[in-house]
Amino acid sequence: MNSDPSAKNPLTYFVTGGSRGLGAGIVAQALAEGHDVAFSYVNNKEAADGVVRQARASRPDRRCKAYRLDVSRSAEVETVIDRGLDDFDHIDVLVNNAGINRNNLVASMTDEEWEEVIRTNLSGPFYVCRQVLPTMLSRRFGRIINISSIQIDGGSGAANYAASKSGLHGFTRSLAKEYGRRGINSNVVVPGFFETDMTQETMAPQLKEFWNMFCPLPGGRMGKSHELARVVTFLASEGADYINGQVIHVTGGLDTSI
Ligand SMILES: NC(=O)c1ccc[n+]([C@@H]2O[C@H](COP(=O)([O-])OP(=O)(O)OC[C@H]3O[C@@H](n4cnc5c(N)ncnc54)[C@H](OP(=O)(O)O)[C@@H]3O)[C@@H](O)[C@H]2O)c1
Repeated sequence: MNSDPSAKNPLTYFVTGGSRGLGAGIVAQALAEGHDVAFSYVNNKEAADGVVRQARASRPDRRCKAYRLDVSRSAEVETVIDRGLDDFDHIDVLVNNAGINRNNLVASMTDEEWEEVIRTNLSGPFYVCRQVLPTMLSRRFGRIINISSIQIDGGSGAANYAASKSGLHGFTRSLAKEYGRRGINSNVVVPGFFETDMTQETMAPQLKEFWNMFCPLPGGRMGKSHELARVVTFLASEGADYINGQVIHVTGGLDTSI
């Protein structure tokens, strides 16, 4: 049992990038398990409204609200997280899921491609954590789950992305050491390949074939968003109270990028 009674269910989640893909799956799973969920989107209001509509239909007893937020902008993060806290009172679980890629070979990569990815995938989680930590500290309870990638091992054409996600690992382990004793657990989840807009847009057909051929699961296949979402909600649950500063791979056993 967690020692803080205020930390019991339902939990309040904040999921960045909850309008599509893996983030939308995490929003749906948290709601299905009876939690309240605030989430962000950056451009796609229509998709965000769809997630909220779906939430109201499936869990009318729970709260779900979307916020427009570019996580790469520090001042915007401050304002929007504070609005979320006004609306929801506190945040128990922060999922830093929002992420982008801007692929190019290093010799051709522009400053903008480098900086946009680092600002969104690495500075973004830092800005959001900094703003959320005080509410978690005041309640002596929090779960921070940062979504990384198998490309931490390096990805050809994705040096900016690999650098941002590798940085996220060091950042998360530091959080675990700084705040674990105060009831805040921080972990990284590493997805393999999941069918989302990100992989549709950038995954070469040969890579998909490679994945299906070598993924050591029946039939060889990409992941389904609920298979990642269930790991995230597990990490937020009491069952994961003793998991802190860890890297959890949800890859079907194939941890290789090319
Ligand atoms: N899909 C995979 O196989 C895979 C594999 C490894 C790692 N990942 C990681 O998993 C996470 C989710 O990936 P995904 O495939 O679900 O991506 P996706 O389908 O492209 O969705 C990205 C989400 O992030 C939001 N977003 C993008 N830029 C943002 C910004 N600057 N500020 C706030 N929100 C922003 C988008 O909002 P809008 O809808 O408004 O654009 C959207 O909700 C990412 O961190 C990604 O690196 C994914």
